[in-house]
Amino acid sequence: LAQAQTVKVGLILPMTGPFASTGRQIEAAAKLYIAQNGATVAGKTIELVIKDDTGTPDVTRRIAQELLVNDKVSFLAGFGLTPLAFAAAPLATQSKTPLIVMAAATSSITEQSPFVVRSSFTLPQITIGIADWASKNGIKKAMTLVSDYGPGIDAEKAFKERLTAAGGEVVGDVRVPLRNPDFSPFLQRVSDAKPDALFVFVPSGAGSQFMKQFVERGLDKSGIKLIATGDVTDDDIVDSMGDVALGTITTHHYSAAHPSPENKAFVEAFRKAANTRPNFMAVGGWDGMHLIYEALKKTNGATDGTALVEAMKGMSWVSPRGPVSIDPKTRDIVQNVYVRKVEKVNGELYNVEFSTFEAVPDPVKAAK
Ligand code: DHB
Repeated sequence: LAQAQTVKVGLILPMTGPFASTGRQIEAAAKLYIAQNGATVAGKTIELVIKDDTGTPDVTRRIAQELLVNDKVSFLAGFGLTPLAFAAAPLATQSKTPLIVMAAATSSITEQSPFVVRSSFTLPQITIGIADWASKNGIKKAMTLVSDYGPGIDAEKAFKERLTAAGGEVVGDVRVPLRNPDFSPFLQRVSDAKPDALFVFVPSGAGSQFMKQFVERGLDKSGIKLIATGDVTDDDIVDSMGDVALGTITTHHYSAAHPSPENKAFVEAFRKAANTRPNFMAVGGWDGMHLIYEALKKTNGATDGTALVEAMKGMSWVSPRGPVSIDPKTRDIVQNVYVRKVEKVNGELYNVEFSTFEAVPDPVKAAK
């Protein structure tokens, strides 16, 4: 009996440190995908090689190099933060290895290598929807608060351009450090300026600290509307924020409460496997594995990197998040963006979707 050959997927994630929840969610989703779809695809056995980069770019780069040279992986995947994806992208180009970005979301990441394919999202893709919601809901003056790195700067720019184009105004913009941010001095300024709304982007997990300080400063009672990308009310943390989060309006590509049969099955299986609710990082991991499986089917198991990336271009499927496709020009994911409100469902807080922008591409690259 011929033995099936192994195809290795190097999954590089922050499994420790401040961004460990991203790693945990993606690891659980990738393992669940294999458990549900079988470890064999196109005659090859899929093996995950999971490595912890602690969220440090130098470590990501070193691990990627080791996975390519020693483990001979056919795919690099994961990438929990933008700087980590930037650190590894040149290695994907040199080695002609597909690099699947399952989490990081700065628009320009896919431009760092023709071997990058993204299953997560981009901040501009998500942010224009909340700016549109704001201008249609009486918000004329807004302030912005973002983490001071790629995705935050993308979000700030997209929000400002879109709100301004609709006749609104951004009357103050602040960037807070990515690590150990203290929001309170800025929140005092917001409280004094009394804009109609505060728009926020912080990465997955950091929303808890933000919401705590938002309440401590009394902003929940100030009449200033809190609007955000769904990163802030991440499914991993939204229930623990308490009732103060109720009514927060966000836009995002995934909610654990998305009402589709595919998502109901995904959430139930994920809960069984990981004993927690999947968040948008989990769905990025799940769809990234789907890309790997379907590309291998198209190449009949061949692992030539160029052929695998070509196979991914234009691919479309129904994800737990809704219908998605890979833009053949940009290698970004085209997907629905949902407007959601934090509500209580069966005693737990969820982001409940109430309207949809369909098949949204990354608007920055679409404009080029
Ligand atoms: C990035 C990280 C996040 O945790 C997130 O929610 C959005 C973007 C990033 O670094 O690209």
